[in-house]
Amino acid sequence: MAHILSAVAWPYANGPRHIGHVAGFGVPSDVFSRYMRMAGHQVLMVSGTDEHGTPILVQAEQEGVSPQELADRYNRVIVEDLAALGLSYDLFTRTTTRNHYAVVQEMFRTVHKNGYMVERSTMGAISPSTGRTLPDRYIEGTCPICGYDGARGDQCDNCGNQLDAADLIHPHSRINGEVPKFVEQSHFFLDLPAFVDALGDWLRTRTDWRPNVLKFSLNLLDDVRPRAMTRDIDWGIPIPLPGWEENPNKRLYVWFDAVIGYLSASIEWARRSGDGEAWRAWWNDGQALAYYFMGKDNITFHSQIWPAELLGYAGKGARGGAPGVFGELDLPTEVVSSEFLNVEGKQFSTSRGRVILVRDFLARYQPDALRYYLSAAGPETQDVDFTWAEFYRRTNDELVAGWGNLVNRTASMVAANFGEIPAAGQRQPVDEALLATTTTAFGTVGDLVGRHHQRQALGEAMRVVQEANRYVSETEPWKLKTDRDRLATVLNTTVQAVSDLNTLLSPFLPHSAQQVHEVLGGTGTFSPLPRIDEVDDLDDPTRHYPVLTGDYTAVPAWKPVAVVPGTPVAKPTPVFTKLDEQGIADELERLREG
Ligand code: MF3
Ligand code: ZN
Repeated sequence: MAHILSAVAWPYANGPRHIGHVAGFGVPSDVFSRYMRMAGHQVLMVSGTDEHGTPILVQAEQEGVSPQELADRYNRVIVEDLAALGLSYDLFTRTTTRNHYAVVQEMFRTVHKNGYMVERSTMGAISPSTGRTLPDRYIEGTCPICGYDGARGDQCDNCGNQLDAADLIHPHSRINGEVPKFVEQSHFFLDLPAFVDALGDWLRTRTDWRPNVLKFSLNLLDDVRPRAMTRDIDWGIPIPLPGWEENPNKRLYVWFDAVIGYLSASIEWARRSGDGEAWRAWWNDGQALAYYFMGKDNITFHSQIWPAELLGYAGKGARGGAPGVFGELDLPTEVVSSEFLNVEGKQFSTSRGRVILVRDFLARYQPDALRYYLSAAGPETQDVDFTWAEFYRRTNDELVAGWGNLVNRTASMVAANFGEIPAAGQRQPVDEALLATTTTAFGTVGDLVGRHHQRQALGEAMRVVQEANRYVSETEPWKLKTDRDRLATVLNTTVQAVSDLNTLLSPFLPHSAQQVHEVLGGTGTFSPLPRIDEVDDLDDPTRHYPVLTGDYTAVPAWKPVAVVPGTPVAKPTPVFTKLDEQGIADELERLREG
């Protein structure tokens, strides 16, 4: 039994989530966390909305509201989106809590005290037309390293190097095309070169990461420079140093603060649980495991910036130092990064209306149909294309005709012939073989989920579904009316297989797992879902916000559990809805209209 931190990327509170977002960080982290709880581990799954930085400012301007109003609006929307998908966060909070501010400032102060925040003057961009700071990511130009002409001021997505906007060739504003003016500004830089050795030592022990993620992370070490952790911006966390704190136009960089959210959310969770120190079991233990889930555009921040912040806090870079009140904090066990989901051959584009919002999707389809698709065909190790035709095909052929049909025919036959789960007589080899297959699957599927091969894991579980369907076709229970004893054995065996499969599929399909449990006569919670609580800010009772949380202790164990003869089973209603293929054309039309 281990303590496992599921650290899930923090979505910007600048709009509702689309299915590409939840394909990257949402569903995979939930499947993993659910499985790990079932396997008996102590899971802490945390995240929240990322509410600082220019993405928030730009959208607030567009909607004509203050950044805080914007963040309040979309924090709630995102909480609802993630709840509707059944994502089992222990705490999904936000970065505008007083607790987060305090934790971030403590991290900054200690990293600074340990000598890893160096003050430097640098050339910052100003928009000539507005006179305001033009943030790095709103500047585009040619990469001075690889020549790619769509590089951003903070980073080149082609070669992966971090850049300074002032180094871009032909820099121009992505907002209005104007050429920025560069002026001298003073900032704190995280001294990344002081961590190159420590980061390298750590990364070289991470041999089981996805090869692309590890390679990308190691490559980052080839060109490491100090990186600015403060900004000329009026929205963000104040820099906790005399002379800086009072300046309303200097704030911590959004990425400095956002990654600290994993820690601050763990602390908030502990404080809300009644034991303010409980978070330490996941952070100070040295043996706890920490898995970080995100899309590939976030790798740099999780395999370099965040570990450097942690090392700096612990005093474990080239300049030494000593940890602050949080003690020595554990580095990530694994940065689990996924690739991108495209839609009908093109990228999602919120600005062009080319998106499929989670809430629109769930208004028309079952949450587990989306979860199934994303788990079976998601961007685990390469970019993939979401198509409506494929979504309909997988839903109808695999979920409805495969798993749904097995559940339905099993419960129907049991209801019609016995009205309850019959006791098995002497099992024949064919019966034993099926149960051996479902039992073995706990090992295979669990191992694959534990190593983040979820597509393969789900494929394996669905292969066993097919075998169970084949077993029913071969044993032909409908021809056994005159052999009650054999009929009872076959149906008992089938119910056992369905029950085992329901456990195996429950991390992927938590909503329908509960329904299947009830179809088989089960009562009580089988597959817990998150809930939304309205809470007060722990340190400022005038502030309130919704959090996503839940009690997940009721999960079934990751193993076969013998079904109980005599349990009443009624004629079932189908758990999954078959889709009318007419709907595909409507969806394609919606996507075009935007
Ligand atoms: N808000 C960022 C994004 O959407 C992700 C932040 S992950 C965090 O790309 F951990 F840094 F918060
Ligand atoms: Zn480049």
